[in-house]
Amino acid sequence: MLQGRHIIDASDLSVEELSTIVNLALKMNADPEKFSNLCKGKILATLFYEPSTRTRLSFESAMLRMGGSVIGFSDAETSSVKKGENIADTIRVLSNYAHIVVMRHPREGAPLLASQYSRVPVINGGDGGHQHPTQTLTDILTIKYYKKDIRDIKIAICGDLLFGRTVHSLLKTLSRFPNIEFVLISPSELRIPYHLKNSIIEKHNVKIFETTSLEEHINDVNVLYMTRIQKERFFSEDEYIKLKGSYILTPEKLKHARKDLLLMHPLPRVNEISYEVDMDPRAKYFEQARLGVFARMALIALLLGRSH
Ligand code: CP
Repeated sequence: MLQGRHIIDASDLSVEELSTIVNLALKMNADPEKFSNLCKGKILATLFYEPSTRTRLSFESAMLRMGGSVIGFSDAETSSVKKGENIADTIRVLSNYAHIVVMRHPREGAPLLASQYSRVPVINGGDGGHQHPTQTLTDILTIKYYKKDIRDIKIAICGDLLFGRTVHSLLKTLSRFPNIEFVLISPSELRIPYHLKNSIIEKHNVKIFETTSLEEHINDVNVLYMTRIQKERFFSEDEYIKLKGSYILTPEKLKHARKDLLLMHPLPRVNEISYEVDMDPRAKYFEQARLGVFARMALIALLLGRSH
């Protein structure tokens, strides 16, 4: 039962609930018109304390496509946050204005704090370098759409695995599906947090191989998930400059990958996938962003108890 729940961490959703959301999202993608009045009379609030294109606008698009309405801010500087209002007071008030809230915040744990003061469901739209559960819904929907099943997959995840919240949520989620193997490719400075690696190995006994080489492993995986080196999470500009060009996927490198590779990226991209790669039929990152609307439609509908 998803109605009324907060979605803060990837582990808030069981595998069964993830499948329910993905299956509803697939139906919505196949026949969006059928769901055009599902959330009539309901209001979504988007509280974004950090920049976003896909997450905020796909949530807004999702609600509007289901006949609901949207309020919120995309820049906290234009809200009473600027006057010093805290998250608890903001969410107490917003709970009276909206039926469901999406929050993005640069501080890890901010959406969790909001959920403790909210009378309506709070969805984490990304908190610092911690979690991004609705990106993961988008990602597993994309895998299901192209690979037909979320099992027996060897996935390489490449880039900033230390600060990448999309990566953290994806690892926590995919590790619970059958026979998933991870190849984690990063500079040694940006390896996944030790506690996260240990907890998913201990809990789910998944195979994880860590490496610094994309070239050595690109031929051997079903899915390649590229990520951006995230300038905004670095403490020093010099360190960012040193690492930003670590991995650049080019058509030349892709020649060595499988014909049925699924190439994903949560976006935005900076320089880690060259523009020529966009022509490759295996590149599905823009399609992934499109599917994100349906993942979020399904989630909103289920949290509001409006899935039928
Ligand atoms: N993938 C993602 O979260 O994109 P935005 O930062 O544009 O929302």
